[in-house]
Amino acid sequence: MAVGIFDSGLGGLTVLDAVSRRLPEVPFVYFGDNAHTPYGVRNAEDVYGLTTHAVERMWDEGCDMVILACNTASAAALRRMQESWVPSGKRVLGVFVPLIEALTERQWGDNSPPREVEVKNVALFATPATVSSRAFQRELAFRAIGVDVEAQACGGVVDAIEDGDLILAEALVRSHVDALKRKMPMPQAAVLGCTHYPLMEDIFRDALGPQVKVYSQANLVAESLADYLQRHPGMIGEGQKSVFLTTGDPARVSQRATQFLRRKIEFTAA
Ligand code: DGL
Repeated sequence: MAVGIFDSGLGGLTVLDAVSRRLPEVPFVYFGDNAHTPYGVRNAEDVYGLTTHAVERMWDEGCDMVILACNTASAAALRRMQESWVPSGKRVLGVFVPLIEALTERQWGDNSPPREVEVKNVALFATPATVSSRAFQRELAFRAIGVDVEAQACGGVVDAIEDGDLILAEALVRSHVDALKRKMPMPQAAVLGCTHYPLMEDIFRDALGPQVKVYSQANLVAESLADYLQRHPGMIGEGQKSVFLTTGDPARVSQRATQFLRRKIEFTAA
């Protein structure tokens, strides 16, 4: 096994689904830290501790490369991990960059100075920890100028999804979109900056209206991973079959995952 997909819970399955459709021959190790979800209400130190612990477990499972399919971990822990924690020969990548590249119409690895882009008003929906980290705005500023970002911390949505309470999740999404629209009435684009949110994408689209272009990470991350693996085929490794690990209750997590992905998913204890 080589390529790992990590999330605090079920949200990263939206990324797993897209990457396994795009790369059907590649086996993945999925790790959901369901016992500690949500990360979005934790401080950066806590998110760093939990994320490094989980990624270590994924090294033990044979992964050479792990994608943090969790914006909260990408925002609060990734930079510190890359600077001082990731062992040589291993890679940890996040999910912000492919999204921002798409939003700013950049190619992978285009390091030219920031420039004006088409989109001027962006609504960012993310967890409280991602919003307060301002990581999205920081990464965007490396690539684009003149973009106004209004961020909405979507408290409660991840908990409702993890509990399988989609009625509550829908009500919360609608109220967070209303709150965002009071601050920015006419966003051109909306970024679903949490990997749980694609599970509610139809509700976001409906509440935002047809004039708002919605950017969702799963397919963007899948394309960027396919591109990366083409350039670094050694990272694919030798596994045969995907594995799903959880720190939560495997039966309960498998049932929710199967419901969300509409195919049988079986988790085992991490
Ligand atoms: N799905 C995660 C994200 O993309 C984590 C949400 C959470 O645990 O609060 O941010």
